[in-house]
Amino acid sequence: MSKKWTHADIPDQTGKVIIITGATSGLGKEASKVLAEKGATVIMAVRNTEKGEKVIQEITKEHPKAKLEVKKLDLGSLKSIESFAKEFLQQYDQLNILINNAGVMMCPYAKTEDGFEIQMGTNHLGHFALTRKLMAALIQTKDSRVVATSSIGHRMGDIDFDDINWEKRKYDTNKAYGDSKLANLYFTYEGARKFSSNPNAPKMVAAHPGVTATDLDRHSKLLQFFNKFMAQGVEKGTLPTLRAATDPTAKSGDYFGPGGLFEARGYPKKVDSNALSKDIEKAQKLWKVSEQMTGVSF
Ligand SMILES: NC(=O)c1ccc[n+]([C@@H]2O[C@H](COP(=O)([O-])OP(=O)(O)OC[C@H]3O[C@@H](n4cnc5c(N)ncnc54)[C@H](OP(=O)(O)O)[C@@H]3O)[C@@H](O)[C@H]2O)c1
Repeated sequence: MSKKWTHADIPDQTGKVIIITGATSGLGKEASKVLAEKGATVIMAVRNTEKGEKVIQEITKEHPKAKLEVKKLDLGSLKSIESFAKEFLQQYDQLNILINNAGVMMCPYAKTEDGFEIQMGTNHLGHFALTRKLMAALIQTKDSRVVATSSIGHRMGDIDFDDINWEKRKYDTNKAYGDSKLANLYFTYEGARKFSSNPNAPKMVAAHPGVTATDLDRHSKLLQFFNKFMAQGVEKGTLPTLRAATDPTAKSGDYFGPGGLFEARGYPKKVDSNALSKDIEKAQKLWKVSEQMTGVSF
């Protein structure tokens, strides 16, 4: 394999079924394009289906043979997650890769339909419930995997389990984002430990894109300014996700990110996360709390 991991390193994906959440823009859109180009059937799980259909038109113009399908999924609604999974499982009995990519960042305080703080609710709890609902298909598919999308921002996180919905403290939207991205890593690492004795369980892998130019910074003027100089293009920024999803040598519990300075940009490599993300007790606690909050049980 070449030193710089690129699209050329992605094995042929023909015959694979891949779900990508948040496929209407940024990393999710780019991953949909590349994986469909590599032969996979890509299910774009999106809250705005019209926007999703436009993306399909764009991709198929360039790649007429690409197999893409839009399905409605709002990660801020357990009801929507349930009906997405039901519809998918009625249509497909295989799921090779679930890419939990959708996310919101640094938005004003709000709650999801089910009363969860918006960033933890969308970025972690929604994906937690979705993964559980799709577990049957993941288990019956050989060598399946689940990819979580974390961030350098996990380093700002330290989840307060007594106030996970930020009802008792003044809202700090940066920290709430960090908490949700730390939760993405707890989910990957705890899942990897939990499933290690089941040879049919999916591999749990995580990725982060460093600093990549997308619409994610819409709530922060400061970040928009900073990203003008710092951010890498979406093609390169999506490589860690693509590597986490397809590198045959990836192991459960691996985390991929850009290999450049401060992991802000560059070609993907295996990276490390902070000490708090490896706190097993906290990861177990989050898993339990997530089950209680979403009403699913692994
Ligand atoms: N860009 C970066 O530098 C960076 C850095 C670290 C981590 N990340 C992570 O990368 C992931 C992708 O972000 P991006 O940079 O590609 O941002 P983006 O362009 O804003 O894309 C985010 C996607 O998530 C979708 N989404 C938001 N809320 C949703 C919900 N409730 N249900 C379903 N879909 C929802 C959006 O859908 P709509 O089109 O309907 O809004 C959009 O498709 C996120 O998890 C983010 O935290 C990005």
